[in-house]
Amino acid sequence: MTEMLEHQAIGRGPARRDGVRKVTGTAPYAYEHPVENPAFCHPVQSTVGRGRITAIDTSAALALDGVLAVLTPDDAERLANTDDAELAVLQTHEVAFRGQIIGAAVAETSEVARQAADLVAVTYDQAPHDVVLSDSRDDLYRPDAVNGGFPTDSNEGDIEAALAAAEVTVTQTYTTAMYHQNPLEPHTTTARSEDGVLTLWDSTQGVHPVRKAVAKVLGLEPDAVHVVCPYVGGAFGSKGQLKANTVLAAMAARAVPGRSVRLALTRQQMFDVAGYRTPTIQHVTLAANRDGTLTGIAHDVVEQTARIKEFAEQTAVSTRSLYAAPNRRTSHRLAALDVGVPSWMRAPGECPGMFGTEVAMDELAQELGMDPVELRVVNDTEIDPDSGKPFSSRNLVACLREGAQRFGWADRDPAPRSRREGNQLVGTGVASSVYPVYRMPKSTATVRFSGGRYVAEIGAADLGTGTWTSLAQIAADALGADLASVEVRIGDTRYPEASVAGGSSGMTTWGSAVVEAARAFRAKFGADPSDGDEVEAAVQANPATDDYAMFAFGAHFVEARVDADTGEVRVPRMLGVFAAGKIINARLARSQFLGGMTMGLSMALHETSVMDPRFGHVVNHDLAEYHITANADVGEIDVGWLDEHDPHVNAMGSKGIGEIGIVGAAAAVSNAVHHATGVRVRELPITLDKLLG
Ligand code: MOS
Repeated sequence: MTEMLEHQAIGRGPARRDGVRKVTGTAPYAYEHPVENPAFCHPVQSTVGRGRITAIDTSAALALDGVLAVLTPDDAERLANTDDAELAVLQTHEVAFRGQIIGAAVAETSEVARQAADLVAVTYDQAPHDVVLSDSRDDLYRPDAVNGGFPTDSNEGDIEAALAAAEVTVTQTYTTAMYHQNPLEPHTTTARSEDGVLTLWDSTQGVHPVRKAVAKVLGLEPDAVHVVCPYVGGAFGSKGQLKANTVLAAMAARAVPGRSVRLALTRQQMFDVAGYRTPTIQHVTLAANRDGTLTGIAHDVVEQTARIKEFAEQTAVSTRSLYAAPNRRTSHRLAALDVGVPSWMRAPGECPGMFGTEVAMDELAQELGMDPVELRVVNDTEIDPDSGKPFSSRNLVACLREGAQRFGWADRDPAPRSRREGNQLVGTGVASSVYPVYRMPKSTATVRFSGGRYVAEIGAADLGTGTWTSLAQIAADALGADLASVEVRIGDTRYPEASVAGGSSGMTTWGSAVVEAARAFRAKFGADPSDGDEVEAAVQANPATDDYAMFAFGAHFVEARVDADTGEVRVPRMLGVFAAGKIINARLARSQFLGGMTMGLSMALHETSVMDPRFGHVVNHDLAEYHITANADVGEIDVGWLDEHDPHVNAMGSKGIGEIGIVGAAAAVSNAVHHATGVRVRELPITLDKLLG
């Protein structure tokens, strides 16, 4: 068991330390980092969905006043490592998807760069492209593993026998759309190559992971790559793995040595090369006894990847651990299409997967005539059915009970379409939420005493989540010092190596490293240190994961109001109650949960990237046509959490909260819409056409 921290600063809600800098516009984002005489880079993108470039004419572009360089596959630098085809920018004349980066113009101004990129004339030998996902394709394949390194399939007992013997069954297909992360700050880089050092001011979820990946692609020593990212204007997973735009920025900088080159993807370009969440087709089967006990649960998923690179979203993995049932099966099958590479988006796996499973649970509750909260309570388990390990803590039932109480669930008439107010059909729905506790294999932190203050340094990231502030709270408690006497420095590869901000693992991983360094500092120098005293310490993976399954849980409650004539859905009320261990910063945590829930509402009602099969690209590729839940769509969102004590997860007792807020939210909305209308929408988003007729 970990030696737990005394909580002094932890648990309170100090305001963001970077708040004033952000609202006054003085926090420099990657594109804004002040540099002398910057040049600008604009990508050239393929206009065919598949094929081969037969000729590129750059003469008109190069003739333009102010153009410094034009990069094409004909003459761009040869990269040292092209194993990752997504990052092998300008290394081939083959076109793998529409919108792929096939060139770039570098110029004195962004306008000239863009004009020059437009003037690059490309001819293709076009081939037919294939971008349509379906579960009846005969080329679906089984990946070796799914994201996170999880087994592709799982199989225990006999699901078919369980189905045959079951008193009640649900067998349905659920689909989630293609989604784009759409952070407000696009993918941006300012890059400079000078004196043997490549400096990247890059908007990223991890400066050290970017350094490592860029060094590999370019064949540089990691020490020759300096990555800086103090602030990020949103990422949602899309900046968690190196993408082609950052490689291109580095190549552009190397083409004009000594100049700083800025590259900002346009919003439309982000729909092509900045990642997205795969659409999913989910077959869910539940078998149960009359009392609601699940006897079987199966979750079989079909989704897409890019032909040039595999990303297999782990959509069914959380179903393995959520409810007990002796007969269980999960599987993932992929279609490799002529599309951009899908990637992480807030709760990859859990987010789409819990739409299928948690709507199916609602359907089962209805078949049984059982309250959907009670059905979930009946199927709770103290042992993780997948690993066979006990949960380090599991308070799903407590979240459901607390949420039901707070939401006023007891008054609910279980019959669908039983409540009408004026022209509005009113319903309520519930869904469970689950997210694993991850700690990355290694992170390192330094604690130093300098100028009468403590300084903790670690190459961590703040995506808007609040790392600047919450890491300082952790350092203060680990040092037994006042919060005001602790400074934290993050977002620079000059600081000790930190893991990516992914899988909600940031606080668990970096916080553990900071605690380790702070404790070592205290042990070495006592409570009265001298200027310059310094300790560095690292943490590895959490050994307690050998003995325990570690997850955060939650419960969503939603009220939906549906116009009886038009089918318009409004959601005046959402409640999320979470059990996510110790909450480090109450103010910032509320913001994370709220953001996740809002994004879940957005997924339920609004978001969908529409792929045009004729051309092979997303047609609604801007924020005018890709609808995101806006202020007017959000009613009252109530966020609560339990005071959960888990001594196994880390010294803070915290579980990570960046992603769980979105998990299950869309299912709760769909379940509420069903309760309001009697119409079961199994295909997201819930647009009004699906409720009429
Ligand atoms: Mo987060 S979607 O795991 O970067």
